[in-house]
Amino acid sequence: MATDWTPDSWRDFEARQLPTYPDQDKLDKTLDQLSTFPPLILGSEARLLKEKLATVAKGEAFVVQGGDCAESFRDFSAESVRATLSALLWMNAVIAYAMGKPVVRLGRLAGQFAKPRSSDMEEKNGISLPSYRGDNVNDIAFTEEARLPSPERLLQGHTQAAITLNLIRAYTQAGDDKWEYAFNGLKDFVHSRPWAQDSWRGLVAEMEDSFRFAQSCGGFGDGYADPCFTSHEALHLPYEETMVRSDCDYGLDYATSGHFLWIGDRTRFEGSAHVEFLRGVDNPIGLKCGPNLKPDELLRLLDILDPAYEAGRITLITRYGHDKIEKHLPELVSAVKAEGRPVVWICDPMHGNGTQTSDGQKTRPFERILAEVKGFFAVHEAEGTYAGGIHLEMTGLDVTECIGGSAAITEEDLKRRYLTQCDPRLSRDQALEMAFQIADLV
Ligand code: PEP
Ligand code: CO
Repeated sequence: MATDWTPDSWRDFEARQLPTYPDQDKLDKTLDQLSTFPPLILGSEARLLKEKLATVAKGEAFVVQGGDCAESFRDFSAESVRATLSALLWMNAVIAYAMGKPVVRLGRLAGQFAKPRSSDMEEKNGISLPSYRGDNVNDIAFTEEARLPSPERLLQGHTQAAITLNLIRAYTQAGDDKWEYAFNGLKDFVHSRPWAQDSWRGLVAEMEDSFRFAQSCGGFGDGYADPCFTSHEALHLPYEETMVRSDCDYGLDYATSGHFLWIGDRTRFEGSAHVEFLRGVDNPIGLKCGPNLKPDELLRLLDILDPAYEAGRITLITRYGHDKIEKHLPELVSAVKAEGRPVVWICDPMHGNGTQTSDGQKTRPFERILAEVKGFFAVHEAEGTYAGGIHLEMTGLDVTECIGGSAAITEEDLKRRYLTQCDPRLSRDQALEMAFQIADLV
């Protein structure tokens, strides 16, 4: 148990990226109400996920984490949840088969509603307004009223998380046909896309009636009934604080807003309130590692967040950019390895690879995303460590937000279905292509 920790001890530390509410009294009342609600997830589920991540740390399984950059109140539907879940299952099947290892499925789902921003203000046509900070905080519309933080949004976010979690549990537990359904989706993909490579078609043909496929994706084993675990950035600390519950059996505290919570690259500095908060909960947690994180700083953070060297507790999510990963990752990996820390390494190839089109639209070239994934595998191979997973901003919908890939999405195409609330996501086809590319790599 963490010493001198309470759910609100983060309040004595420096908290960056938190909204300032105009009506403190209303905020306090909302937080009081949230703190009386039942948990969204149970401590036992968080412990199960931690055990699974411990197997990843040993090189025996692989993490596929993915979902929206920011979940949206407006675009919430059963279809959008089902589509993203399906895409995760497809990726799971391809990667598990190619690796001969189970996949741990982690959705950026059911709680990814608060966003850190590089700038407090956003400017458009000479008008400057507070930045959008996620649907839990304010509205994306570019008006003064919309950008005002409103406490009621926390209740709506909580309700949407509960409904999403209910759908996830239902879809992933509904019967024996989920793998067959996933498999039919894969067959359709490789047969209907002219650009699908022969190696992908070959892989799907091989999977078709393979017992190993069924085994590796958990079809006949323990993993079969696994849910898709949920994850989000634990950014909104007042909200996260209200969701802490003690597990009476174990005497441990859990953040019950999601199974896996991570600390973003902008809030993982030493002395951060976000580090203090996550130090005391027993969930498996993630830490984003960007180019300005020095190895000694990371080691000190690990001493705080994981004093017991517990396998499965820490996942390091590296996000450098295609042209920086081979420079920065080796020193981090060798420092962590030298300390004997049993961490999981996963690659976020999204956040370091943003570009802008000629008319100012944010996008990410698929080729750069893929290059960072390749760099990630190469560095771990060279260091003798295990490349344990990927973390993608993606959707199961047919969007056009990232350029490139085999479908050759162009800047012009971005005008068609650019639907994201925040950062550009891989489309269903691009996410699947990424899974096949990883299959080719391993
Ligand atoms: C994110 O994952 O949405 C994010 C903001 O990432 P990072 O903290 O790595 O910039
Ligand atoms: Co993002």
